[in-house]
Amino acid sequence: MPTPNEEPNHRTVGSDRNRRIGVLISGRGSNLQAIIHAIAERKLNADLAVVISNRPDAAGLKRARDAGVETVILDHTDKAKFATREDYDRELVRVLKERQVRLVCLAGFMRLLTKVFLDAFPNAIVNIHPSLLPSFPGTNAQYQAWEHGVKWTGATVHLVTTELDGGPIVLQEPVPVKDGDDVDTLAARILEREHHLYPLAIQLLLNGGWRLEGRRLLTRF
Ligand code: GRF
Repeated sequence: MPTPNEEPNHRTVGSDRNRRIGVLISGRGSNLQAIIHAIAERKLNADLAVVISNRPDAAGLKRARDAGVETVILDHTDKAKFATREDYDRELVRVLKERQVRLVCLAGFMRLLTKVFLDAFPNAIVNIHPSLLPSFPGTNAQYQAWEHGVKWTGATVHLVTTELDGGPIVLQEPVPVKDGDDVDTLAARILEREHHLYPLAIQLLLNGGWRLEGRRLLTRF
């Protein structure tokens, strides 16, 4: 009897001994730091193979180096190297595949991905977004929620598809919006939950035993 993961219609990251992840960043890298901590504390059973930044000055690069993790800078403004978005993504894929990365984790990576990248890692690219999707996709999600006046917002980890912030949801966590909040206090409360949520979601995906039914990512079936 095949397990659900082996059925051709259930494309999944699966469960095998390769636990190598790559993290893509553009800036601060606090989610990267949470992943590094979770691995160090053995709360996340993963091997962080490489951290890639599209910005040479991303603060997250230092966090990776301090943890002894390989860093690669692929500067998207270098048009001599990357004339098109596809050229850029081909190089991303090459670097990740060379390191046998099984799951790609976007952590504040501020780039739209092309089909070149998405097709190279089917159902194996994951992102964290600071709202309860499908509410408030896109940039400034915390401001969007605050300005709208919702009483609850949160954080979402989702698989990445061609639709912006629209892929199957892996895990979500709600966060209250308080009357005294400004955008910064709200963003800080969400970020704290992001740091809790992302390692959990990565572990879930690496462990396998999940499948997609349409948009729904199911772990009990
Ligand atoms: C986080 O709020 C994440 O949800 C969003 O970008 C931000 C990245 O922050 N996608 P950091 O670089 O991980 O600190």
